[in-house]
Amino acid sequence: MTKTVLITGGAGYIGSHTAVALLEKNYDVVIADNLANSSPKAIEAIETITSKTVTFCKVDLCEQQAVRELFAQHPIEAVIHFAGLKAVGESVEKPLWYYRNNLVTTMNLLDEMQTHEVYDFVFSSSATVYGDPETVPIVETAKTGPTNPYGHTKHMIEQICQDQAAADDRWRINLLRYFNPVGAHASGKMGEDPNGIPNNLVPYVMQVAVDRLDKLKVFGGDWDTPDGTGVRDYIHVCDLAQGHLAALENIQAGCQAYNLGTGTGASVLEVIAAAEQASGKQIPYTITDRRAGDIATSLADPTKANDDLGWRADRNLATMLTDAWRWQSENPLGYEE
Ligand code: NAD
Ligand code: UD1
Repeated sequence: MTKTVLITGGAGYIGSHTAVALLEKNYDVVIADNLANSSPKAIEAIETITSKTVTFCKVDLCEQQAVRELFAQHPIEAVIHFAGLKAVGESVEKPLWYYRNNLVTTMNLLDEMQTHEVYDFVFSSSATVYGDPETVPIVETAKTGPTNPYGHTKHMIEQICQDQAAADDRWRINLLRYFNPVGAHASGKMGEDPNGIPNNLVPYVMQVAVDRLDKLKVFGGDWDTPDGTGVRDYIHVCDLAQGHLAALENIQAGCQAYNLGTGTGASVLEVIAAAEQASGKQIPYTITDRRAGDIATSLADPTKANDDLGWRADRNLATMLTDAWRWQSENPLGYEE
């Protein structure tokens, strides 16, 4: 029998790719999203790519009554919770907004799941819970300690989930700590569409390549890394989407945290080179001061997810940038066109 999965934030970047992965495995998908940071065109893209329909509910999950109606109206059997605000800088400027949105949405969902005896919950956490790691690659048992309000919301939600699972052994919860998701669906129909000037490296580089922005600033050339620029564990968004499917299908009683990354790092200069290769364009850049809050290296040890979930991220940096470029070049203004 097909299973119905609620994907919150399913119109967003990672949620939309995960919706495609689930539909391709014949799950029924209900998407709840208030479109605060996404476009209804993402829903159309999901349906075009899969030739299937999704049930889309435009809902603010901070509103408890709306969440009640969602569960009353749909036969939800599991929840993948992407909905949330995610910009680190914005979270420092408007912490209350971040705490309210990220925590209240989650509490409303967990409450309603409990009422309807739905206990399978997959949550979008982040490598940001590790703060500045003492050693890399990072294992799940490493010390956590986020350094900004956004990271605190992820850390707090992880704690709430752990407490909930400890209190009632019917809960089955996977906390997925993503490293740096990049790339786009290979069709070129779905990808990342940030509002305003991108904060993150790959969307910024893509907008330079497509002539929406002039020049990249490389935030520091004197880090303790092989070429002096920051090293990150970039993971293709479609590999990440498959990670959610694996997390859902291999969920166990209790609450587990998993690193979703490749285990391989790339520097800013390596990302620029891969983007130039993928696009055939030159990416002008200057090396500037470090960005506040940045770290030298972030790298996952994904062994636990590889072993427990039977999942592995296979796509390499060249594929990530090739797919990102296809999306960006075919949709220079994202979903706006
Ligand atoms: P996104 O902004 O593209 O998607 C989040 C979606 O949630 C958006 O469509 C937004 O409209 C929706 N949303 C926000 N608040 C809502 C509310 N109150 N009610 C209903 N919908 C709401 O972000 P993304 O990159 O797809 O990230 C998905 C999740 O993964 C987020 O929780 C994010 O914090 C987490 N995450 C993202 C990254 C990353 O680099 N993209 C890294 C680690 C963790
Ligand atoms: C950012 C978030 C982090 C989140 C992660 C996952 C910040 C401060 N941190 O981390 O919480 O979990 O995304 O998506 O936003 N860079 C440049 N020039 C740019 C942009 C970035 O040189 O214009 C460099 C950065 O210094 C870093 C690398 O590129 O070395 C990657 O940056 P970014 O894509 O913003 O991701 P993170 O900093 O890892």
